[in-house]
Amino acid sequence: MKNGLSRRDFMRTTASAVTVAAVSSEPAVGAAPTVLTSRTVDPVVISDVSGIRFRNGGQVSAVEKAFEMITSGADVLDALVAGVNIPELDPEEMGIGYGGLPNAEGVVQLDSCCMHGARKWAGGVAALEGVRTPSLVAKAVMEYTDHHLLVGQGAQDFARSMGFEIEADLNTEQSRALWLEWKRRVDPQHYLDPTKRSQAGYEAALGMVRDGLIEESHLWGTINCNGIGPTGDICGVTTTSGLAWKIPGRTGDSPILGAGLYVDGAVGAAGSTGRGEANLFNLSSYLIVESMRRGLAPKDAGMEALRRIRSNTVENRLLNSRGLPNFNVRFFALNASGDCAGVSMYAAGETTYAVCTENGAAEVALEPLLSGSPSD
Ligand code: GLY
Repeated sequence: MKNGLSRRDFMRTTASAVTVAAVSSEPAVGAAPTVLTSRTVDPVVISDVSGIRFRNGGQVSAVEKAFEMITSGADVLDALVAGVNIPELDPEEMGIGYGGLPNAEGVVQLDSCCMHGARKWAGGVAALEGVRTPSLVAKAVMEYTDHHLLVGQGAQDFARSMGFEIEADLNTEQSRALWLEWKRRVDPQHYLDPTKRSQAGYEAALGMVRDGLIEESHLWGTINCNGIGPTGDICGVTTTSGLAWKIPGRTGDSPILGAGLYVDGAVGAAGSTGRGEANLFNLSSYLIVESMRRGLAPKDAGMEALRRIRSNTVENRLLNSRGLPNFNVRFFALNASGDCAGVSMYAAGETTYAVCTENGAAEVALEPLLSGSPSD
């Protein structure tokens, strides 16, 4: 999708500049004369549908919040993180932050990472307990440490030291009730044979999707949100409660640079929702950004990653009756021109993603690689 905004805004730049990102407000001695010219990039923010459907009881969605901040002059990553804080704090969004579906022991463990294209900074947290907004802790790792990833107790200790409130339990009544239902289904008489337990847990979770107790999207519920600002700054953030009822400590793609998110400030950004293991194995977000570097459009780069996942999915337990992946995965990509796309493995399930431009926020169709649904 081409970001179809009018180019009515103007900003100061130099006649020799190719992009406005390189402009300094103090002209150097001998520099070309300053002239007025149209900016080269119109801001755009994209995300999966959580970024437009969940508003935490307010009026403003994640993509709208981020877009409004970006066009008011905020740092692009600050704006994106402020945006995703909305679904993180929304108790009705059961795949992200507060009220996210807990692990197999009933504990909510959260994953997030963020990347700042212009600064070439990144930070992440995995299996973080007790903080409703893991994206803010990921950003603090990025801003205040020499590291890119903190996990578990260490991530929580760091969050406490940075002044984040640590809560004893991030479950809501609803997330706890659903966990108890899952326990009842998977473990009617204590644990099953350990070799069968993990598959039994997955089957029980899929049964709860089939029975309409949870949305398929909440099984791997995640928000990825990427944006580009008027000076060409590109950033991204991904945040999740991870796979519902996962083995404690299981970490998906969302906090892993290159898997659930990748940003290169000169090329673009890509991130994902869906089965994290597929993105960990294929480093899908990195693959998409590298494909865009080779000149592919965001949609074609996303399709290439989906095809890579399809060809690398060979185990019977991960295949449906058609011999295709029995899970869904979606990618949201934008390039340095502000062109963007959302693609999904399957046509069924979530069919749209969120795009916010100067014309407002809208749901736009995802391009599927395969017809039908993962369970066909
Ligand atoms: N994509 C989220 C996860 O698998 O944890």
